[in-house]
Amino acid sequence: MAEITGIYTASHTPVMLNFPDRIPAELKDEIFGAYKAMGDDFMSGKPDALIVLSNDHLHNFFLDNFPAYCIGCAESYESPIEHWLHAKRRVFAGDQAFGAYLLQEAYQADFDPSFSMEMVLDHGSLTPLELAGVDPDLPIVPVLINCVQPPMPTMRRSYALGQFLGRAIRAYEGVDRVAILATGGISHDIATPRMGMVNEEFDQTFLTLMEKGDIEGTLRYATDFVHTAGNGCEEIRMWMAAMGAADGAPFRRAYYRAVNDWYTGIGIGRFEV
Ligand SMILES: [Fe+2]
Repeated sequence: MAEITGIYTASHTPVMLNFPDRIPAELKDEIFGAYKAMGDDFMSGKPDALIVLSNDHLHNFFLDNFPAYCIGCAESYESPIEHWLHAKRRVFAGDQAFGAYLLQEAYQADFDPSFSMEMVLDHGSLTPLELAGVDPDLPIVPVLINCVQPPMPTMRRSYALGQFLGRAIRAYEGVDRVAILATGGISHDIATPRMGMVNEEFDQTFLTLMEKGDIEGTLRYATDFVHTAGNGCEEIRMWMAAMGAADGAPFRRAYYRAVNDWYTGIGIGRFEV
């Protein structure tokens, strides 16, 4: 039986790595410090494995074949896939047996994710891992959710996937301690005339609903209002999955700032599992 040592949620954007100095130095230091604090908290739980919930940005998957959910079952994961990302190239260790276990359990639980034994991680996974200072030798299992190409899986289904993952992880006997990092969102727009606009009101309401532990209210708000907060906000499906895995544990906001010059509402949080 594995213990879940922590469930973390964090925004990601390549702009943080490529153009960090587009915002005042004090603000950049504050934000990078918040990611590092998340990483320190994360590593203090001494996890043996890490589940990374993120999304693919049309790198591993394209219009010829785009899964709603995909579980990584690779021995290792190169990153980043983007040649233009200002990040050190690295190879993350994969926990192939854990990935295969989650895949089989998913089928038994009536989920039908795809799987990949050749996944390469893009900025979505790498940005928070890099800023948090996560050791690439910590074995990971990526779980990717389609948040970019409509039609996308529903918020509620993504929450249910998280509930399944939480149950399956806790029942797994291959490792003792597992952390979960869910990354994406919050409000942002990519490649639209609204790029650079952040709907802070959406982000604040969304985070407040989560802090209140209002799961039904969060799911409804995410479903009904995500369209007001930019196409990149569709990535809150990862937050829904984290909320499902948390199994009712309280959510604590660690950081939030609407950062227009990074095009994104930067939010970091943790479920107190
Ligand atoms: Fe993204």
